[in-house]
Formats: sequence, C-alpha cells, structure tokens
Amino acid sequence: MSHEQKQAQAELAARRGAVAAAMRRRMIAHLSAGGTTDLADDVLGIAASVYTDPVRAELERRELFGQLPLLAGYAHDIPAPGDCLVFEDAGPPIVLVRGADGIAHGFLDMCRHRGARLVQALPDGRCHRRQHLTCPFHGWSYDLQGRLVGVPGSAGFDGMDAGTRQLVSVPVAEWHGLLFVRACAGPPTLDVAAFLGSFADELRMLGLERAAPVRHSRLAAACNWKLALDTYAEGYHFATLHASTIGRSHYSNIAVFDAFGPHWRIGFPEKALGALVGVPEAHWPPAQFGAVHFLFPNTVLVVGRSGPGALFVRTFRLYPGGTPDTMSCRIDVHALREAGDDTVDHAAFGQDDADSEVTREDYGMAEQIQRNLQHAPPGLRLLLGRNEPALQAGHRHVAAALGVPL
Ligand code: FES
Ligand SMILES: [Fe+2]
Repeated sequence: MSHEQKQAQAELAARRGAVAAAMRRRMIAHLSAGGTTDLADDVLGIAASVYTDPVRAELERRELFGQLPLLAGYAHDIPAPGDCLVFEDAGPPIVLVRGADGIAHGFLDMCRHRGARLVQALPDGRCHRRQHLTCPFHGWSYDLQGRLVGVPGSAGFDGMDAGTRQLVSVPVAEWHGLLFVRACAGPPTLDVAAFLGSFADELRMLGLERAAPVRHSRLAAACNWKLALDTYAEGYHFATLHASTIGRSHYSNIAVFDAFGPHWRIGFPEKALGALVGVPEAHWPPAQFGAVHFLFPNTVLVVGRSGPGALFVRTFRLYPGGTPDTMSCRIDVHALREAGDDTVDHAAFGQDDADSEVTREDYGMAEQIQRNLQHAPPGLRLLLGRNEPALQAGHRHVAAALGVPL
C-alpha cells in the first residue's frame, strides 16, 4: 500500500471516529435525559394497503426496482477482468462483468440470437472467470465488452451485421467499492454521486473498497418487502420483541437518526454506554463506529464490530416477490479490513443472519402483520410514531418516488 493510500485510509478512519464520537454524544444526552430519543415532527398515518395492494406493488416493482440505482454487489465480487456477477433480484437477469479495460460493464443476460441466458452463477451470484460470454444454446460468443465475436455455422447468418447484435447494455457504475445498476436496458452510465447526494460522504467514509466477502445467505418470507424493511428502522421494539437478544444488549426506544435525502443513518445505544452517564466526556474511551445505514430504496448496511478488531458490514437487500405478500432478502457479510491486513478471520463473524433468533423474531412478526393486514377493513390506517423517524422517512420517500399519497 502506497503512502498516499495509507494516508487516505487514516483520514477515513479519523472521520469515522469523529462521526462515532458525535453520535455517542447524542446518545448519552438521551440517556442523561432519562431515555429520550430523536423524534420526527409529528406522528404519521399510512394506509395499511401500502403493504397489500397489488397495484401499489406493481408500481413499486416498476418505478423503484426498475428505475432507481440499486446496489448489485461489491467491487470485490468481480476483482479482475473476466469476473462476472449475476444480479437478477430486481427483475431482468443482468450480468456484471469486468472488462479487459478493468471497467465494470452491465448487460442483460440475454443472447442476441434467440434470447438464452449466457451465464451460470454460483449461489452467491458470482461466476467463474472467463475470456468470453458464450451462450450454452448454440454457442454464440461475446467479448467482455459485450461485442458479438463468434457465431458457429456463421454461413447461416449471412449478411448479419455483428455490430447490431451486441449484448444489451444496462446502466452500471462502480463507486467506492460498490457496484450499482439500474435494472433496465439503457445507456451504460449511471450517476451514483448524484443519486447519493449528501449520503455519498457518509458511505465513502466506511471504506467499502476494503470489503472482503465472508458469507452469503438468503431468506424468503410471506410478507411485503417494506414490512420486513421496517423492522430494521426502529429500536422501539427491542425490549419487547427482542427481549432475550438485542433487548438485553441495547436500550429500547432510544436512537439517533440522520437523514440524507431519501437515505439515512441510525444508531442504537448499547447498554454499556450507560456507564458514561455523568462522566465528563474527557474521560470517555475512544468511540467505536457502529451504525445502521439505509440506501434507498431497499438496502440496509449494518456496520459494526463482531469481536475484537473484526469490523464488518452486513448488507441486507430486500426485494418484492411476485405478489404483495412475498419478499426475499439477500444477506452478505463482508469484513472491512484494516490497512495492510489481507487476512479475514471468518470465525469472528458469528452466526448466519438468515438463521438468527433476531431475524426469526423480526420476520415472524412481519409475516404475522401481513396476515392481519390482508383482512384489514378498507381504508384502515396504521400509525408511525414520532419515535419512528426512519420509518416515516422511508414511507414518505417511497410514496414520493411513486407519486402516490401515503
Ligand atoms: S440463443 Fe444463444 S446462441 Fe442461440
Ligand atoms: Fe428487530
């Protein structure tokens, strides 16, 4: 690692430290006040039908998952030319491939002969490194930039202009260790910085270029994707729903919340912080960075430490299923390695999130609510408290992006 790279990493670490200290100061102020929390201006009512209406669900699939930049993976998923990643959770199967030019390209995973898929992915979406994308049906082959370069029995296609048969591009961009796509055909560029706005600095600070894959899992649930997403956005339920897990380690109904356009960050205080109440700040130990980040519209990035030294990011990407009452979640754990450390201690990352008690509690609750709401009287409204500001923000921004009322 060069001197400049080391210096850049040290600057990011210093910025994380400053943000962690500021968040902790606010948490301790809440604790000192007897257990207050960051509040929205008002309570917010939302229609129960946002979780059950098939027309709303179709609109979300089209306008959110089909139009917005979505996190498709990490740069480390395709480190070298010829590495591919298949992303098909948002609708059309898309293949991201690192070209010979080192740039990540995105194409519909669709042969230009008769439409077959080109790539067979491993369970985590990654594929074996290759020189060409070769169709398993009749063997047409494309280079890593998507150009048609081989047609077996080419006499059968006499007069065809290969230039008109290149793979269909989708917008893709690599941004500070993250791969974004827009899940529809379109010109290849994507302005991620504009999409992230003021959240860009907060994400860049995490140093996600260093994210090394540790684990991957998936889960499916019989609930709307937003009901599952809501469970990540508030700590009001810790003491009740998670009495034996997070409710033991964290304060319930205390959070510090910051919005950055439609994206947000939230911090939930650990009970250990209670020991600092009444202690002058000059005597506090260095603050450790830990927070839940939300990347609109569907991605939760939990950054924290799992055991000594093991800084991680756990990525939860939630997707609607074919009906309003089905969804899936893709979970990825990445280690955020410190400067100069190329090893990852997999044992330090604990239990698979897809299988944890907290996940069972949250997703079980979301499924139960979904069954209830299917039978809700027409026009029934649910209430989001002032103490649930991240939920309010999420639902407001979804409705605004769709151009529909809450
Ligand atoms: S469909 Fe791909 S070569 Fe025929
Ligand atoms: Fe929860």
